[in-house]
Amino acid sequence: MNPALSNHKNFSHARKGGVKKPMRILVTAGPTREFIDPVRFISNLSTGSMGYAISGEAARRNHKVTLISGPVDITPPKNIKTINVITAQQMFAAVKAEFKNSDCLIMSAAVADFSPRKTLTNKMKKKTLPRQYILQLKQNPDILKWAGGRKAARLIIGFCMESEALIKNAKDKLKNKRADIVVANKINKNTSAFGRGLTKVSILQKNGHMLNIGPSKKAKIADILLDKIEALWYKNFNAAA
Ligand code: C5P
Repeated sequence: MNPALSNHKNFSHARKGGVKKPMRILVTAGPTREFIDPVRFISNLSTGSMGYAISGEAARRNHKVTLISGPVDITPPKNIKTINVITAQQMFAAVKAEFKNSDCLIMSAAVADFSPRKTLTNKMKKKTLPRQYILQLKQNPDILKWAGGRKAARLIIGFCMESEALIKNAKDKLKNKRADIVVANKINKNTSAFGRGLTKVSILQKNGHMLNIGPSKKAKIADILLDKIEALWYKNFNAAA
């Protein structure tokens, strides 16, 4: 068996009843919607299932969880504070408000990178538009990068999804966003990173460790990720977890 996985089992077993000194964990989940007009928006295929699995597992281990969620069709886990947002700007505002009260930020949301330069107040009418219409987009704030710049003693966890050069991009992201861990999802035909199905990920750590997992349920990925987060956080406290 992969030694990293057998260590994981021992570690997880020790935490069966939950930790005694909970962390304050801030999780983002789901897509954001960037409105063109009152009824049309740009978004992506994120369902929120990864972020909700992480939030549920963290709460089960007795951590204090705040979940900032984009629009999804999942009931939030019990015992956690949930803040619902729709746009990237709203998610950014919520993260800014909650960040100071957190020990760890897990950015599993698929934040839209761009939004329309202007959101129209009234619904766009087909008959008033030319046959080809150019929609101007502007970049959204990079929330993870903002957080990485202010991390202090916090742990920062990012996700990435790429169709090519996955590991190289994940390593760049670890550095550029000052993250402690990046979870890399490969986009391919057989295992979609989106949705409730099985998925394959690589967990990369700042210290150079990399663990390939899957195809696995998101609950298992959440479990392994939380073991890694707890190992980093409690290393200075030894048995005090
Ligand atoms: O750079 P890229 O968007 O690929 O990085 C992905 C990571 O950054 C994810 O953890 C995602 O939640 C986060 N992100 C963000 N703000 C954005 C876009 C992505 O925090 N505007």
